[in-house]
Amino acid sequence: MTQSASFSGVRPGLHIAIIMDGNGRWAETRGWPRIAGHRAGAGTVRRIVEAARRAGIGTLTLYAFSSDNWRRPPGEVRALMRLFEQHLARETPRCVANGVRLSVIGRRDRLPDRLCVAIAAAEAATAGGRDMHLRVAVDYSAREALVRAADSCRSLEVVDAEAFEWRLNAVSHDEGRAPSVDLLIRSGGEKRLSDFLLWECAYAELYFTDRMWPDFRAADLARALGEFERRERRFGAVRAEAAGGWSGGPGPPAPAENGAPEAHEPRVAGGGAADPAPRRA
Ligand code: FPP
Repeated sequence: MTQSASFSGVRPGLHIAIIMDGNGRWAETRGWPRIAGHRAGAGTVRRIVEAARRAGIGTLTLYAFSSDNWRRPPGEVRALMRLFEQHLARETPRCVANGVRLSVIGRRDRLPDRLCVAIAAAEAATAGGRDMHLRVAVDYSAREALVRAADSCRSLEVVDAEAFEWRLNAVSHDEGRAPSVDLLIRSGGEKRLSDFLLWECAYAELYFTDRMWPDFRAADLARALGEFERRERRFGAVRAEAAGGWSGGPGPPAPAENGAPEAHEPRVAGGGAADPAPRRA
């Protein structure tokens, strides 16, 4: 492993989300059909899942197919659906062997039946995985999930962020609270969120690289994680020193209605588990 692929110093349990962009351009520059880029991209998925697990990442969410991707040529869509199905079948034993729990988030009602069967089988087989949660987003739209989650809250007397996050995950076929993203990576040179995890990325650090997804390697992941570790996350608060002497010990309770970090969220760099009272997001 090269030096740049070293993962030492990364805090365990982070949630990393990746927009895997650039498959089509990677293929086109070689004079190949776009699906060749997607196939090469599937190889990158395998390598990065393994690298993320070795790095101690807690949750890895990969954007494989957005709800807007249905607008692509039918042949490309069909080929992608087949590729997802094959990949799930091929990678499930590897996930089981490596303690990776696999979930597919997004809508299911528009997916081919064969893919739904493959998803159910992969999720059941990997349900006991404890080392990393791999979430693959297929027919996923954050805005649509937000609307559906809001709609599902109508029966509640009180809607707070926690109740909402349970429903946001449930409408995407995942369990528990929607996990906040620590680091969002996008390959392929574009710098946008493309309707991915809009709620969960509220305080995500963003990392963009020109590397096309089929060329993305463990060293690129290590580079992104290294930059993430150097960033100071304040969650809308101020640096510990500027907060008037608060130095990372138990601070004043943060009022939840101001979007303050919750207990499960990562610590502010250089600080402690509790955050000083937020000033402004
Ligand atoms: C975006 O690149 C990529 C996709 C829409 C598909 C992502 C699929 C994979 C990485 C393949 C395998 C995935 C799994 C989970 C097995 P693009 O086609 O928009 O690239 P472009 O911007 O260069 O055209």
